Amino acid sequence: MLVDGFGRVATDLRVSLTDRCNLRCTYCMPPEGLDWLPKPELLTDDEVLRLVGIGVQRLGINEVRYTGGEPLLRRNLVDIVTRTAALGAEVSLTTNGIGLARLAGALAGAGLHRVNVSLDTLDRDTFKRLAHRDRLDDVLGGLAAAERAGLSPVKVNTVLMRGVNDHDAVPLLRYCLDKGYELRFIEQMPLDAQHGWTREDMITADEILERLSADFELVPEPDEERGSAPAQTFVVGGGPARVGIIASVTRPFCGACDRVRLTADGQIRNCLFAREESDLRAALRTGASDDELAERWLASVAAKRPGHGIDDPSFLQPVRPMSAIGG
Ligand code: 5AD
Ligand code: SF4
Repeated sequence: MLVDGFGRVATDLRVSLTDRCNLRCTYCMPPEGLDWLPKPELLTDDEVLRLVGIGVQRLGINEVRYTGGEPLLRRNLVDIVTRTAALGAEVSLTTNGIGLARLAGALAGAGLHRVNVSLDTLDRDTFKRLAHRDRLDDVLGGLAAAERAGLSPVKVNTVLMRGVNDHDAVPLLRYCLDKGYELRFIEQMPLDAQHGWTREDMITADEILERLSADFELVPEPDEERGSAPAQTFVVGGGPARVGIIASVTRPFCGACDRVRLTADGQIRNCLFAREESDLRAALRTGASDDELAERWLASVAAKRPGHGIDDPSFLQPVRPMSAIGG
């Protein structure tokens, strides 16, 4: 079992399959993109599966979520999902939805359980302004395909930015209620490559709630049912629909965190905000045994810090941006 010094057990593995993306969301990366990792530095499919296998078979991982960058840009994703499902883990995907229209059926057939699709606006101009690409229709088509393929409940992640898409909260909730998608708002975290995040500009969970409450009746669900889930959920308009708000910054859920991350270049990160990584790729490529890889992984999680500390004066943003860590 992967246990840290505070007794938290990591069972949820997030694996980034590529740092590339076909969007440029402002809260993640600059409009001109970033220098992508050179191919030889990326784990091969077999290397990914070997490490995921060690996590699932020896270390108590029971949920594997593939992320990016954009995981749908990874060649052989369907095969990777098939092989992961065969290990007995629940497999899910966090994606921007572009390309899902083509792949949702095959992914569902491969054993994918769930998808989380990022959608920050329903307005084409706002989409272009926020993501620097004119791809809103592809994302909406991807969502619909996921629903048709039975990858339900389809979850939608929204990050609101002041002066950009903060007026989209109500229309997004209306849209998701209509389509039967589960919407979750995530407070923007300081993870963008350009270091443009400021606390003042962040739309807080309280603000989101205030905006939604003007148009919807929201009843909070009891916190006991939350477990390690980061979202506080609200029943909308008497139910059964719900909406979630993830207050990553103003109400951190680090105390219940059950996640561990593997980057596309084979580094274990024990936290989104970790400043140190453990290099499993180097170990793996110099002939380490499964036992040795598991030992390194255990040591990395054991060294996990209590929380992200965004409010500490000494807080430093991680060197890797969100696009290279994954959600
Ligand atoms: N803050 C909060 N959420 C973010 N995401 C990406 N960057 C940030 C950020 N800076 C979200 C995306 C996606 C998931 C991977 O994380 O919306 O759904
Ligand atoms: Fe791409 Fe996701 Fe970053 Fe947006 S948040 S640019 S979709 S990796």
